[in-house]
Amino acid sequence: MKVNNKKKVVQVENVSMHFNMSSEKLDSLKEYFIKLLKRQLFFKKYVAIDNISFSIEQGDVFGIVGLNGCGKSTTLKIISGILKPTMGSVVVSGSVAPLIELGAGFDMELTARENIYLNGAVLGYSKKLIDEKFDEIVEFSEMREFLDVPMKNYSSGMVARIAFAIATIVQPDILIVDEILSVGDFHFQEKCNRRIEQMMKNGTTIVLVSHDIEQIQSLCNKVMWLEKGKIKMLGGVKEVCESYKNS
Ligand SMILES: Nc1ncnc2c1ncn2[C@@H]1O[C@H](COP(=O)(O)OP(=O)(O)OP(=O)(O)O)[C@@H](O)[C@H]1O
Ligand SMILES: [Mg+2]
Repeated sequence: MKVNNKKKVVQVENVSMHFNMSSEKLDSLKEYFIKLLKRQLFFKKYVAIDNISFSIEQGDVFGIVGLNGCGKSTTLKIISGILKPTMGSVVVSGSVAPLIELGAGFDMELTARENIYLNGAVLGYSKKLIDEKFDEIVEFSEMREFLDVPMKNYSSGMVARIAFAIATIVQPDILIVDEILSVGDFHFQEKCNRRIEQMMKNGTTIVLVSHDIEQIQSLCNKVMWLEKGKIKMLGGVKEVCESYKNS
């Protein structure tokens, strides 16, 4: 019998996520509050994640695939602790660097230079560390020319470059990446893939959502296919990607 003694770093058990969706269109905030007070507002429960269980082992590059709205980002947010599941349990061991909502940690009115410090603080880095790593962040993102421009004037690819450069400056135990790489150009994607590969070599666990099956196939060792909030298939990269592509 094959004994698997790799450490489980993410354990998701019987997790469900329900969202409330207002079932009627209201024309104003005032109307909303009046209806709310009169208890005339009805919500429809929407099941975004429907009782899923899986675990991720240390050193895995775990891919999640599936159609739009199947629950990939919701799953990542649950693992990162951004969302608390309606039901079930999630145990995560180690430090997590989530790259989920592009620019969520940024103040778009501020310049990239200011945001590097702001976002670094959000990620728990000290000012000293950011001072030391500042040039490396700027170099990796290739945004030196635009450092003192407010980030609201950046393209989404430029925001992604800065976000990725900051989040990966310190090697986390678990790196969570939601598609943001896909907004980068080919050259930057290559660079990100190389940095991810370097992290893999150093034992970082990676959870990656991507619509780019080629990218999933070249980076991942395990893949989970979600369909309408349920696990359709979970296993080796080859079999899952083949089935998904042929579906
Ligand atoms: N905060 C929210 N409130 C209400 N519904 C939500 C919320 N977040 C997600 N949903 C719903 O949950 C479902 C799953 O969304 P999710 O963002 O996880 O999909 P996804 O697989 O990441 O899709 P995509 O490929 O388009 O990024 C969708 O139907 C979405 O509308
Ligand atoms: Mg998504």
